[in-house]
Amino acid sequence: MQANACFNITIMETLGKRKEITEDELIKFSNEHCSACGSQRCLGAFDEDWREGCEIFNSIFSDNQIQLYKGDCIEMLKEIPGRSVDCVICDLPYYKVVKDDFDNQWKTMSDYLMWIEHIIMQYARVTKENSNIFLFTSRQYNRYICNILDKYFTERRVIIWCRKRGFNTTRGNALASGYEPICYYSKGREPVFNNLKIKPDTNRKEYTEGTLKDGITLSDVWTDIPALPHNSKEKTIHPTQKPISLMERIVLIGTNEGDVVLDNCMGSGSTGVACVNTGRRFIGMENNAEYYMIAKQRINTALKDKTQKLF
Ligand SMILES: C[S@@+](CC[C@H](N)C(=O)[O-])C[C@H]1O[C@@H](n2cnc3c(N)ncnc32)[C@H](O)[C@@H]1O
Repeated sequence: MQANACFNITIMETLGKRKEITEDELIKFSNEHCSACGSQRCLGAFDEDWREGCEIFNSIFSDNQIQLYKGDCIEMLKEIPGRSVDCVICDLPYYKVVKDDFDNQWKTMSDYLMWIEHIIMQYARVTKENSNIFLFTSRQYNRYICNILDKYFTERRVIIWCRKRGFNTTRGNALASGYEPICYYSKGREPVFNNLKIKPDTNRKEYTEGTLKDGITLSDVWTDIPALPHNSKEKTIHPTQKPISLMERIVLIGTNEGDVVLDNCMGSGSTGVACVNTGRRFIGMENNAEYYMIAKQRINTALKDKTQKLF
């Protein structure tokens, strides 16, 4: 990536519709051959065989772009061209785990799971070959969501994020729960995988000097990133905000610089901030106006900070 690439970043916002694609441009997506760019390879964005041939689409995703959309992701996902996303990282509503409206919008669990499957089917359409999917889920519904994901993607791991704070009070006669499962799935034979090393716990005596210096290979149980405390500088009013360091770790494992990351329920925008910090392109969606504004501000601040660091 060029040193001044972050000057090219633009933030676009719409009310449920992509503004930057005109009616005429959309018509070309339904044509077998792309009437907009004339490319033989562009078979229409909603076609399974769509490739990176369409120049209009390529210009929309020009270098290092951030695209933010305010509205219902169910509607907006339909407008993302097929095979255009390198990685989905999303913290979907959990269903009746937190008190906020966004977690209580379905009458039954089966309504909720139908909603989830609808979204996962869109992921299957919009993702490229060899892409990755990381979905935060709840302890309660993880197994159902894995069953849905199994139909469309290949399981890599279920990452256990030991959050250390929140959700861990004992309810009734059950054990306290202290983790959040993250479903890590992929598409294609050679999905991007960056093997990260982390700093070992220096209190444990079995590590050699070399290991302490080089780090240890990251496992699928993450105990070193706690949930944000209420007095954290990072914390906003969003009730399920994820730490930026957690999101950066996921971005680094599953994508390369310049890749397009999609988060269709971005909340306070933690995935977007992680993408800015690590040089990935980002498509973010959020239907709550207040959270959307918070996400936009945080991503803007991250962009400014990054620009300042360059000069
Ligand atoms: C679990 S939170 C995501 C929190 C986020 N990871 C963060 O760090 O702030 C899920 C978000 O999805 C949003 N949401 C729920 N239904 C949506 C929909 N249909 N379209 C877009 N966003 C939606 C909610 O408003 C909520 O902010």
